[in-house]
Amino acid sequence: MNTLLIGSGGREHALAWKIAQSDRLGHLYAAPGNPGIATCAECVALDLSDHNLIIEFCRDKAIDLVVVGPEAPLVAGLADDLRDADIACFGASREAAQLEGSKAFTKEICDLKDIPTAGWARFNNAPKAKAYIRQVGAPIVVKADGLAAGKGVTVAETVEQASAAIDDCFEGVFGEAGAEVVIEEFLTGEEASFFCICDGKSAMPLAGAQDHKRVGEGDTGPNTGGMGAYSPAPVLTDEHIDVVMSRIVQPTLEGMAERGTPFMGVLYAGLMIGDEGPKLIEYNVRFGDPECQVLMMRLKSDLLPVLLAAAQGQLAECEPLQWSDDPALTVVMAAEGYPGAPKKGGEIAGLETLSDDSVMVFHAGTTEKGGRILANGGRVLNVTAIAESVGAAREKAYSAIDRIEWDDGFFRKDIAWRALKRGE
Ligand code: AMP
Ligand code: GLY
Repeated sequence: MNTLLIGSGGREHALAWKIAQSDRLGHLYAAPGNPGIATCAECVALDLSDHNLIIEFCRDKAIDLVVVGPEAPLVAGLADDLRDADIACFGASREAAQLEGSKAFTKEICDLKDIPTAGWARFNNAPKAKAYIRQVGAPIVVKADGLAAGKGVTVAETVEQASAAIDDCFEGVFGEAGAEVVIEEFLTGEEASFFCICDGKSAMPLAGAQDHKRVGEGDTGPNTGGMGAYSPAPVLTDEHIDVVMSRIVQPTLEGMAERGTPFMGVLYAGLMIGDEGPKLIEYNVRFGDPECQVLMMRLKSDLLPVLLAAAQGQLAECEPLQWSDDPALTVVMAAEGYPGAPKKGGEIAGLETLSDDSVMVFHAGTTEKGGRILANGGRVLNVTAIAESVGAAREKAYSAIDRIEWDDGFFRKDIAWRALKRGE
């Protein structure tokens, strides 16, 4: 099965590494890929905004399946255009990608299907939004409706903070994303993520994970794309997972199908686990990055046939996936300056001998020049390990990091502190 993988991050390196192990694989291409992906796929420099060019490439190379990693090409309708050209694609349609692209869209599905989530209201002007906040009080959560690069959410402890966040939205700080505001009840508990593969009708549960969004130790400082993750998420019990599947994921798939926009692809549920059980905070329509890296490390089954079955609406015919009981953990090495402007161009050495059966260094923002690996982005490497306990996986990952020579890199030294505090 010839496969084209779209993307260039650590998530896509992990997917390429996993897909490359499939007995069913013919040739694997990645566009644009990165130097890590190049060790398991042929990287091709396709312009991802030129859908006709991608279709032409797929026909020329007899591609049987396109797998889309990031959300941007999905939001731009790449999956729709490929399917219209009769090319199988694993990824959400533009319409279904609204589950990530619009908070109000997701909340409407939640209302329609009685999905457990925070109470909410939507506003298209500041005076009404502020009057509502004065009425319900703080703490309260203010969200720009659209995609705001992870910056559109304010968890406000006071009415004043909430009002300032409302002003930011309507004064255009988040551009079009802030034209509408969603105000949510503040939920308490511990956050976790759960991932499923969906084919429009049914969902195959994958596994849970927890990530560290803040740049600094102790979960402090600005938000990032994620500085580390581990799977499974100890806070998420089997009973919770049953609730997530029956009360959150399955009703969402029904709601999406009923409105004529069936959801196919990865459904990533951001959850708050509190006294009343799991509640949905948000959806993404792709694998988490770096959560995907730990999931791929734990997955024992062949992923490729499942992705194809999902793309063909035949997930019900697949056997459940097999997972290692051992936890996996990943530590993100980022470049100085991240999440602001990262320092680029520094040489990274010592990677050649690091990876084995239980340790993988997935590349994110790297580039290759004359045989040397250079930093070329904010999040640069994902040092990932699997072991009999979270603590042992963490030790493996940090001892691999010790052997990486890179002057401009930094990483958090407390990944998985929550899991370790629970005694996992
Ligand atoms: P979101 O982009 O919707 O995932 O929100 C980003 C982060 O804000 C989440 O990961 C939570 O930490 C926090 N958050 C969002 N919604 C709520 C809520 N209703 N109650 C408490 N925290 C929230
Ligand atoms: N690690 C969080 C995300 O991928 O959105």
